[in-house]
Amino acid sequence: MTIARPRGTNDILPGESEQWQVLEEAIHRICQAYGYREIRTPIFEHTELFERGIGETTDIVSKEMYTFSDRGQRSLTLRPEGTAPVVRSFLEHKLYGQALPTKLYYVGPMFRYERPQAGRYRQFYQFGVEAFGSGDPALDVEIIAMPIQVYKELGLETFEVCINTIGCPDCRPAYREALRSHLADSKSQLCRSCQTKYDRSPMRILDCKEATCQELTKDAPLILDYLCSGCRDHFAEVKRYLELLEVDFVHDPRLVRGFDYYTKTVFEIKVESLGAQDAVGGGGRYDRLVEEMGGPPTAGVGYGVGMERVLLALQQQAGDALKPSGMDGFLAQFGGATKEQAVVLAHRLRALGLKVDLDYLDRSLKAQMKAANRSGARWVMIIGQEELENNQARIRWMYDGTEEAVDFDTAAQYLAAKGKEPITQ
Ligand code: HAM
Repeated sequence: MTIARPRGTNDILPGESEQWQVLEEAIHRICQAYGYREIRTPIFEHTELFERGIGETTDIVSKEMYTFSDRGQRSLTLRPEGTAPVVRSFLEHKLYGQALPTKLYYVGPMFRYERPQAGRYRQFYQFGVEAFGSGDPALDVEIIAMPIQVYKELGLETFEVCINTIGCPDCRPAYREALRSHLADSKSQLCRSCQTKYDRSPMRILDCKEATCQELTKDAPLILDYLCSGCRDHFAEVKRYLELLEVDFVHDPRLVRGFDYYTKTVFEIKVESLGAQDAVGGGGRYDRLVEEMGGPPTAGVGYGVGMERVLLALQQQAGDALKPSGMDGFLAQFGGATKEQAVVLAHRLRALGLKVDLDYLDRSLKAQMKAANRSGARWVMIIGQEELENNQARIRWMYDGTEEAVDFDTAAQYLAAKGKEPITQ
């Protein structure tokens, strides 16, 4: 019996891994263009970090974490998200002592024990950023603009940016109270999960997908009417800057997101064609989290983007835009001295940065040409006995079948110079 991969995990195979590399290249380039520097934190952390950072009543902490005891009986958890670990690292290394804002980005796997379905996995990849030390609404907008630039540069054009504000600990309690009293008489009709949210986090009821809960909250009071002046002004500025940057957005007054740490701005970016798991990214401001985690009062804002979902959406919208480029060339040989020449030339060409391959299965020329074709090679260098005697390689350009002879001594330099030219030349 063979062993299959665990449910909810993926192998990223050749053909797909090249697409990931294109996505990762865009992430590194664009994050750095915005002044963010990469941080790599451990895959597992002390369980308490997530309990305190994300909130014990959240779905993630209460039912989705991969938690285990190590051999020293410490409770550890595979990271379900990136914000809490980055905050921990920011505090542990006293990065707040350096020039602010501190702008960090990360790329890597996250783990959540969720029911797997299209676009939802138990191990999935996120890239994200966290910016510490500034409460400026223009920074919220930078944070929203950045993933949009990644999507657009890769060819993803159709998505919806939803924003909202969820207030702060000064104005939220009054709103929570208003929400509770609105639902007080119908509490028993809420779904079981929402009944447990009623006391500790009633705002999350707004996010419930159950039809009855949606119906019961249809006319619920909106946070906008309860915001303190600071939160109201902040939200107005976020919208003004989004308009300045010509970012299309919708204000969804029911958007709350599933983490305890958010304050003020929250946002989510959705691609409708993805179906039930349509969020390709989301984030928001968390001005109290650093302090709650034991650090000095420090504002924070960030986002996380699900990389599998971005690739799924790209496949739907951009077709083969992410198609990997093939090999540059293939060296066909007939064994013996011709093989030696091919091995030496392949070595030289690779050292010059060209992608080349040759036959290791003693195949016929016909089979080697087939292999070259499959690999996407732009040219095939044919090295036969006659070529060896003339000290000249025969180069066949695959796009039109024309051939030319080139001295072995200069062939590598010649092909390296030609190597990156468009195929029709
Ligand atoms: P999140 O909304 O939980 O936020 O995750 C961000 C993105 O990760 C989602 O929009 C989605 O694209 C992807 N994602 C989440 N769960 C899965 C899954 N099971 N399978 C595939 N993709 C998934 C956060 O994680 C916050 N830490 C974002 C943040 C950073 N907020 C502030 N800073």
